[in-house]
Amino acid sequence: MKKTRVGVLISGRGSNLQALIEAGKTRGFPAEIVLVVSNMPKALGLARAEAASIPARTIDHKGFASREAFDAALTEALEAARVELLCNAGFMRLHSESFVRHWWNRHLNIHPSLLPAFPGLNTHARVLEAGVMLSGCTVHFVRPEMDSGPIVAQAAVPVLPGDTEDGLAARVLALEHRLYPHALRLVASGAVRVEGEIVAGLTGVKAKGPQTALFSPSLDEGL
Ligand code: GRF
Repeated sequence: MKKTRVGVLISGRGSNLQALIEAGKTRGFPAEIVLVVSNMPKALGLARAEAASIPARTIDHKGFASREAFDAALTEALEAARVELLCNAGFMRLHSESFVRHWWNRHLNIHPSLLPAFPGLNTHARVLEAGVMLSGCTVHFVRPEMDSGPIVAQAAVPVLPGDTEDGLAARVLALEHRLYPHALRLVASGAVRVEGEIVAGLTGVKAKGPQTALFSPSLDEGL
C-alpha cells in the first residue's frame, strides 16, 4: 500500500502531532509523516518528532518580511519533502490566501469546538460563557477564513455543570487525539472527498452504542 506523505505544522506542545505519530505506527495506517515544521524554535513538538525519527525543522516566521514570504518558505520545505497532505496541529499562524489556495483540499486543521460555532482563540472560555451544553472538536479542510472549511469529522463532549476552562480543554483534547487520526485515515485512504464544499463519500459508517452516538462519524470505525 502506498502511504500518503503527510507534513505536520506545529507551534507548541504537539500533543496532536503525537497522536498522529502513534496512529502512523498502527498496521495499515494509510499515511506517514515525512516532515514536521514549527514556526517556533522552542516548540515541544519538535522533540516529539525527533524522538520518532521524523525529520523536523523550524522555520521562524520572525525571519520573514511578510506572511507571503514565510508561507512560500513553508511550501518550499514541504514540497522538497514531497508532502502530499498537510495537517495543522496547533499551528498558531494565519495563512496567506495564496498558501491556502496552493494546498486546497490537501490541507487539514483541528479546532477545539464544534465548528462553525466558536472559531478563533479562547474557545473554551467562550463556550462556557455562552452556556452551551455540548462542545467538542472538528477536523476540517482549510479555507481562507480562519477555522472554516469542509468538515471531515467531529466529536462531541457534554459541557458539565461547574466545568472550568482547563477541565473542558483537557476533555476536548483527549477527544482531539482520537479524532485527528480518524480524520486523517479517512482523507488519506480516499474514503472521503470534498464535493461542493461538503465532505462526502462516507459509506458503511454506523454509530455503535450510546457512547459513540455522540461521534459523527463513529470513532469505532477504522482505528
Ligand atoms: C489543540 O487544542 C488544537 O485543537 C488547537 O491547538 C491545540 C494544540 O495542542 N488548534 P497540541 O499542540 O496539539 O498539544
